[in-house]
Amino acid sequence: MFSGSIFILRTLNKAFQIGGIKISTPVLLAPMSGITDYAFRILCREHGAGMVYSEFVSADGIIRENSKTLSLIRFSSKERPIGIQIFGSDPEVMSKAAEYVVTTFKPDLLDINFGCPVPKITKKGAGAAALKDLSLMDDITSAVVGAAGDTPVTVKMRAGWDKNSIVVPDVGTRLSKLGIKAITLHPRTSCQGYSGRADWSLIRTLVSNLNNHTDGGIPVIGNGDIQKPEDVLRMFEETGCDAVMVGRAALGNPWFFYQTAALLRGESTPDTPSLTDRIEMCHRHFELLIKDRGEQAGTNLMRKHFGWYIKGFPGAAKIRHKLVTASGLEEMRQMLRGLRNRQIKKFN
Ligand SMILES: Cc1cc2nc3c(=O)[nH]c(=O)nc-3n(C[C@H](O)[C@H](O)[C@H](O)COP(=O)(O)O)c2cc1C
Repeated sequence: MFSGSIFILRTLNKAFQIGGIKISTPVLLAPMSGITDYAFRILCREHGAGMVYSEFVSADGIIRENSKTLSLIRFSSKERPIGIQIFGSDPEVMSKAAEYVVTTFKPDLLDINFGCPVPKITKKGAGAAALKDLSLMDDITSAVVGAAGDTPVTVKMRAGWDKNSIVVPDVGTRLSKLGIKAITLHPRTSCQGYSGRADWSLIRTLVSNLNNHTDGGIPVIGNGDIQKPEDVLRMFEETGCDAVMVGRAALGNPWFFYQTAALLRGESTPDTPSLTDRIEMCHRHFELLIKDRGEQAGTNLMRKHFGWYIKGFPGAAKIRHKLVTASGLEEMRQMLRGLRNRQIKKFN
């Protein structure tokens, strides 16, 4: 058993809340553009993710009521608690977008993206660009908090713009004083992209700045480089964070959340999913996508998910190739049915 098990159990017994929202398991699904849509969020919630997020949504698109943008925000009650993440560079636009989202969609919380490193976004002053201009960060934050009413506002950020401008030690209390209710930290710099390693010691720094704060502090959600359930325990132990957010490790792997929940309860990790489990999950994911996005978009979106689900067993590459290159809905459905029947026969 992990050396930090007593610490972990203490962490679990501590109710994890953001604003007034109670979150049952302190392991959350990260916002991921093009991935964390209705279908994937439902599957992760069903498998034990404590909370899920939309992908980042453009504040400009929201206030223009662009139908594609608004479709990224729509969610079902089964997904709650859910956070909607918005991005933008203009405090006034961010304020209007925040008001629109909380009144029209009523999410459990609103998250501000101060972490996206993609040049197309940062060139316009949005995402991680705010890490270079803390007064802009203040203005955006105050505008969103002011417009969100009773809905808690949180921030997801990177550690700084580059290695010479790490802002973590400065921004924690600054954001909490502006009314932010939790901070998620992915401790890489914007310039780093995904290279190198996430520096978890910066999560610890943020925790000690915020949790010891005299007004009671706000929760810190640690993020970055979680690859297996044991890493979640290690992040709790090494950083003292209140919750852990998981991104890439959940791709093709909604089981990650129930495996982690078992570990957090002090049990051993449940068996890794069998091929039959994977086929069933693909089937379910596919049907949810078709229901939500229609035949053409659902089929196209499912191709990348097949790539993540179908791996790690003999013959996976061949099956994956056939699924990813299938001509359309019917061929994919037939292939999944065929695979399922083959598995059932094998076990009878
Ligand atoms: C494909 C992809 C899309 C992402 N989209 C978003 C996003 O919309 N908003 C956001 O805050 N972070 C986004 N991220 C960053 C993740 O939320 C997370 O911070 C990052 O992947 C590090 O966590 P991980 O090591 O657990 O994957 C994205 C990451 C990936 C891989």
